[in-house]
Amino acid sequence: MATEAIRKRRSVRKYEETGVGDEQLREVLEAARYAPSWANKQGWQLMVVRDAEIRNRVAEVLDKNPAARAITQAPVLLVVCMDPTASGVQKDKEYYMADAGILMDHLMLEAAEIGLGTVFIGSFDEDRIREVLGVPEEYRIVAMSPLGYPAKMPGERPRNELEDMVHWEKW
Ligand SMILES: Cc1cc2nc3c(=O)[nH]c(=O)nc-3n(C[C@H](O)[C@H](O)[C@H](O)COP(=O)(O)O)c2cc1C
Repeated sequence: MATEAIRKRRSVRKYEETGVGDEQLREVLEAARYAPSWANKQGWQLMVVRDAEIRNRVAEVLDKNPAARAITQAPVLLVVCMDPTASGVQKDKEYYMADAGILMDHLMLEAAEIGLGTVFIGSFDEDRIREVLGVPEEYRIVAMSPLGYPAKMPGERPRNELEDMVHWEKW
């Protein structure tokens, strides 16, 4: 059985306005710091956005994304930016995306552990977000997530059975 944080984490899209304390924020960021990465290059930069006006502008760019409103509600927005040259490429597989995914998972699980909500947001107009947040051209903006207290905890989403996804010894 997976750990409790793994089992209870959900994509939270409705938040209370209650602030997130510096200590909790730091705990979530620290968890991200421990994430593994290609050759331990840690080619990531994390942005913490509390400013409501900037969050509103990001939400505007997200437009019809189901998580857009969450960014205006939750008091903190986290943005993961990656330097693609600080990770490996194997047969066109660009591992900076894997590095970013693991980083996101670390912070999402730590947040769940301390009662905070997150949602991985990957679908957005990168150029427009770059403009709003002033991210340098060398970095790809891979993911973002609101961070705050859930106003509504979604139910468990369906998952495939192990039998449908695991191959033992040989495919
Ligand atoms: C790479 C990736 C990109 C995602 N992008 C979005 C997104 O743009 N907007 C959104 O509302 N949810 C997004 N999600 C959240 C998924 O919809 C969600 O994880 C999935 O439906 C399972 O639900 P759960 O996280 O509550 O278990 C994304 C998740 C991943 C892993």
